Amino acid sequence: MQATINGISIAYHDQGKGPPIVFLHAFPLNRTMWAQQEAALSSNFRVITIDLRGHGESDAPLWHYSLDQAADDLRGLLDHLSIPQAVFVGLSMGGYILLAFHRKYADRVKGMVLADTRAQADTPEGKEGRFQMAQIAYKQGASAIADIMIPKLLSPATIRTRPEIVQQVRTMIEGNQMSGIVGDLMAMAERPDSVPLLKQITCPTQIIVGDLDQATPPSEAKLMAEQIPHARLAIIPDAAHLANIEQPEIFSAIVGEFAANVARPGTP
Ligand code: MLT
Repeated sequence: MQATINGISIAYHDQGKGPPIVFLHAFPLNRTMWAQQEAALSSNFRVITIDLRGHGESDAPLWHYSLDQAADDLRGLLDHLSIPQAVFVGLSMGGYILLAFHRKYADRVKGMVLADTRAQADTPEGKEGRFQMAQIAYKQGASAIADIMIPKLLSPATIRTRPEIVQQVRTMIEGNQMSGIVGDLMAMAERPDSVPLLKQITCPTQIIVGDLDQATPPSEAKLMAEQIPHARLAIIPDAAHLANIEQPEIFSAIVGEFAANVARPGTP
């Protein structure tokens, strides 16, 4: 499915009936990373997965990208789908976008799942790393980005023993256009510190992290869980950064239980 949002074509998938759950993918992937959650949850929920601007089958215009712009795209798509409020699940960059979305449009957020992500802005070294990665992307292409990212996204055991998952992730990365990859890197490097926002979050919030996640380690998840009022924290064993792909049943069960609780009448 495609919709014209903010002047570009945004691809999404809308499946199932029930309270809506909207999934925001990681860098530099696409909406198909949520295939297992879609399959597990769409019998009880309306599951919407989106190719963010610059990814998958959405347009990847060669221009400036920002997380606020991604938040505006998300709002535009919700309006297009006539969804006033939803539960959102954002993993890593998807989590950064979810925090940006909450900052701008808190009234649209019924509940949040922040997975394998962090609230802090990039450090100076982190920003320098983004710059270097953009140069590699420009000079060597998306497959060089896949070589760098796969060991950050997946656990050593998955890389060793589950070639089909490694290939799935590589295919997603290599399917992205350069404008989107570089645009994301700039957008993430420019993102503000969201730590001051955390104490102001009043919607139900679930934090999830893989215990082996080195990109956004459990310490970052614990910080968010401590700062966000009444947030719950789940640490998934034997999962690294892409916890939803490495441990899909556990991840889907946590999201399903959270979204069912949020949907109960009387939940703010
Ligand atoms: C992601 O998975 O979205 C990225 O690792 C996030 C980041 O690079 O900060």
